[in-house]
Amino acid sequence: MQTLYFDLRDTKGQQKEIGDKIAAAAKILQDGGLLGIPTETVYGLAANGLDAAAVRRIFEAKGRPQDNPLIFHVTGPQWLPRYCVDIPPLAYVLARKFWPGPLTMILKCRTDVVPSAITAGLDTVAVRCPDHPVTLAIIREAGRPVAAPSANTSGRPSCTTAQDVLEDMDGKIEGVVDGGPCAVGVESTILDLTCDPPRLLRPGGLPLEDLERLIGRIDVDQAVTRSMGEGERPRAPGMKYRHYAPKAPVTVVTGAPGQSAREIQRLVGPTSGVICFDEYVHLFPEQEVHALGPSGDKSVQAQRVFDALRTFDQSAVTEIFAQCPDSQGLGLAVGNRLKKAAGFHVVEADSERVVLGITGGTGAGKTSALQAIRDLGGTVIDCDAVYHEMLQQDEALRSDLGAAFPGVLAGGKLDRQRLGREVFSRKERLDQLNDIVFRHLGPELRRRLSEGKELLYAVDAINLMESGLGQLCDRTIAVTAPLELRVRRIMARDQITEEYARLRISAQKTDEYYRNKCDCVLNNAADSAEAFQIEAKDFFQRLIQQIREEKQRSAG
Ligand code: TXA
Ligand code: MG
Repeated sequence: MQTLYFDLRDTKGQQKEIGDKIAAAAKILQDGGLLGIPTETVYGLAANGLDAAAVRRIFEAKGRPQDNPLIFHVTGPQWLPRYCVDIPPLAYVLARKFWPGPLTMILKCRTDVVPSAITAGLDTVAVRCPDHPVTLAIIREAGRPVAAPSANTSGRPSCTTAQDVLEDMDGKIEGVVDGGPCAVGVESTILDLTCDPPRLLRPGGLPLEDLERLIGRIDVDQAVTRSMGEGERPRAPGMKYRHYAPKAPVTVVTGAPGQSAREIQRLVGPTSGVICFDEYVHLFPEQEVHALGPSGDKSVQAQRVFDALRTFDQSAVTEIFAQCPDSQGLGLAVGNRLKKAAGFHVVEADSERVVLGITGGTGAGKTSALQAIRDLGGTVIDCDAVYHEMLQQDEALRSDLGAAFPGVLAGGKLDRQRLGREVFSRKERLDQLNDIVFRHLGPELRRRLSEGKELLYAVDAINLMESGLGQLCDRTIAVTAPLELRVRRIMARDQITEEYARLRISAQKTDEYYRNKCDCVLNNAADSAEAFQIEAKDFFQRLIQQIREEKQRSAG
């Protein structure tokens, strides 16, 4: 099927020509065809709402589940009594104030008039009057209410331009009307008026606060803020689907903008994609970034949110992290679309949470420093232990190791001695092993940190900086000590000769190296482990305080 394209972006020109295009588009609807139409919210996929066969074709073209009802689009409240019964006066109050505009009302349905394909068998119907001159003219010309879900393929982000519609629907529908990019960018607000108080089923282009100012209290349906469990039925059936979703998994990071940006910086890897406010784009030079607009302008964020999600479908990113506005005004709708895209996988950027990276050579006092952090209530993540756990359980790591070091996984059990022999005296093999380990350790640590609920973490890693794990930390700290002190400590601790102690130290990276790479240095010249632990505790206490203050300022 060839999809006709009607360019109606400019309605100020030749009136005859415009009238002809509108008539041709309306004819498609009258003949039972499907038409992509512009509205102020998102593009719709329209059919004659009184023609059950045409309506069924909408479900086919979109691949939409049959149990998800459609919205009836009309040109004004005078159409309500034709399709609805028991209309509360409130419906007219709302229509007078907000129509045409991004408000959909759920009302009792005249089931003998409205095809059950539209209502998916419910005894209610969703009605709205879109605020777009071209579409209003087409509906008027067609003389019928228009059934129109958003024009995207089911499950994909909604379309905010005619090009988006063609991307999903070219060849499947009779025509698309280009009325320019959508002014609002998120779908209409859905308000159920069949209950008291009215209930918000979907946040959208009309802020909840505007509704409440006019009609008082409104209940917010649970499906707006959380994912629906197995067997749960949201009142707007469409809210149960993982929706608006790009191919890569999405994580939404909430919190004050400065805070969430920093948290995302901590979470991203080189193959991540980022959706962030304009002010923070520069923080992600290595990632594919889509700007959501200024953090203070939710109208722009609403216009851009679907486009940002949609563009990631053409990209090879492996995961997407998105900043999220607060839920005032249009923020509720923008945040809801992002969270639905994420399957409600949300991470809170916590302004209290501090992650310290601790590194240093043997005998310098790392163990006492970590004990000081435990004394302050912190949780230590021992990367060496994590690595060994992963060697047992992490199939991705094991399979990469098996490929690079054939034979070390013979019989499914890791032959550590063999692996050790392979890398012992060959630098390039050791580098190769480290590459593999670091590649897997990073995501695992990010996962542990994002799932952890503690306020203070210390990441303990010999290779903190080389592995890239330092990037997950608010500060990296090198624990260093004068050489002669280290020699004596190791001798006493491990009961070894001076010569062997010196040999061990010289096989490691120098203090100089750690000092240059880390954010701060904790030097251990104390006489005893106990004395150093007290010093370290004091040092960390001040550092943590400073980091929290900085975070609060940037959250400001
Ligand atoms: O802004 C909009 O509303 C756009 C444009 C094209 O007008 N349309 C739109 O349609 O978003 P759609 O089909 O993508 O979303 C309609 C939502 C679905 O979640 C559906 O479950 C809900 O409205 N809905 C429809 N009829 C309903 C009813 N009788 N009761 C409860 N929810 C209903
Ligand atoms: Mg939709």
